[in-house]
Amino acid sequence: MATTEWNRRHILSLEDFTLAEYDIILRTAASFREVLTRRTRKVPTLQGRLITNMFFEPSTRTRSSFELAAKRLSADVLNFAPGTSSLTKGETILDTAKTYLAMGTDMMVVRHKQAGVPQAIAREMERLGTHVGVLNAGDGLHAHPSQALLDLFTICQYFDPDSPRTELLKGKKIAIVGDIVHSRVARSNLWSLMASGAEVHLAAPPTLIPKQFLEAFRSNSGSLSIHWQIEPALDNADIVMTLRLQKERMGEHLLPSLREYHQGFGITRDRLALCQSHVRIMHPGPVNRGVELSSEVMDDERISLVQAQVTSGLAVRMALLYLMGGGKGP
Ligand code: NCD
Repeated sequence: MATTEWNRRHILSLEDFTLAEYDIILRTAASFREVLTRRTRKVPTLQGRLITNMFFEPSTRTRSSFELAAKRLSADVLNFAPGTSSLTKGETILDTAKTYLAMGTDMMVVRHKQAGVPQAIAREMERLGTHVGVLNAGDGLHAHPSQALLDLFTICQYFDPDSPRTELLKGKKIAIVGDIVHSRVARSNLWSLMASGAEVHLAAPPTLIPKQFLEAFRSNSGSLSIHWQIEPALDNADIVMTLRLQKERMGEHLLPSLREYHQGFGITRDRLALCQSHVRIMHPGPVNRGVELSSEVMDDERISLVQAQVTSGLAVRMALLYLMGGGKGP
C-alpha cells in the first residue's frame, strides 16, 4: 500500500484535512477491516515500535480501541493512567511525555480535558527534534479526530461496503442531535462531513447549540443549518448522529430535565418515521439510555450503527497509526 500521498506526522484536528487525505484513510481502513476478518487478525506492520496511550481523562472505547489497534499492528503499547502516575506527585504533562520519549516512544495518543494539550506535546516533540507523532484522542471541547474519522468510515461503509469513499456523502442529509455545545465529536464531524459535501442539520435546545457554528464551519462543499426543534432536522434524513448530554461539562442548568430533553429531542421509533426509510442511527458512546435514544432504537440492529461504529473504530485507528508510522501495508 502506498503512503506517498500521506505526509502528516501528527493528527491533531481535521480542520485542514483534504478530501484526498480522507479518502486515503477510508481506503486504508477498508484494507485493515479485511485483516480483522482473517484467522490471524494481526499484521507485523509496526513491529518493534512503541505506542504510548496517554489518557488524562476517563475513556472506555477510545483507549481500548487504540490499544487493540496498536496490538493488531504488532506494536508494543504502554498505557499511562493518571491516577497512579507521578502526576499525583506534581510532575508536569510535558515532563511525563518526555519520560515516555526517553523510553523510546514512537507515537503518543493523547486525551485531556483541556483543549490544546495534545498540540502542546506535539510542539514539544518537534522542539526536541524528535520524530514522535502525536494523535489527539479528544482535547476538551475542541477536537476528536479519530471519532469523526470512524464515523465517516461507518457512514461511507453503510452506503457502499465495498468501496467506502467521501463522494458517497455528497448531498446526503445528516442530522446531528444533542449536546452540540460541549461536543468535540460534533466539531470534528463538521469538518469531515462538510468537506465531503453533506447537508448537515444540527438540532438541540438553544442552550446546547452555539450559533457561531454557522460562521465557523461555513464551507464550499456541504451546507449547515441549525434547528431548535428536532422535526426539521429529521425530515428526510439519511443518517442521524446523536450526542451524549455531557452532564460533567454542564456548569449551569442548561436543561430543565433529562425527561424533558428526551421528550423534545430523544430519538424514538415514532420520530424515525420522519426520516428516509433507510435511515441509520449513530452515537459515539457512552449513551445515556432512554435520554438521547430510546432503548428500543439503540438495540435495534436494523437501524442502529452504534456497534458498527465501535468495530469501524478499530480498523480506522489501525489505519491512522499505520499512516502516521509510515509502515508497510497489510
Ligand atoms: C466521546 C468523547 O469522549 O468525546 N466519546 C468517545 O470518545 N467515544 C463523546 C462523549 O464522551 O460523549
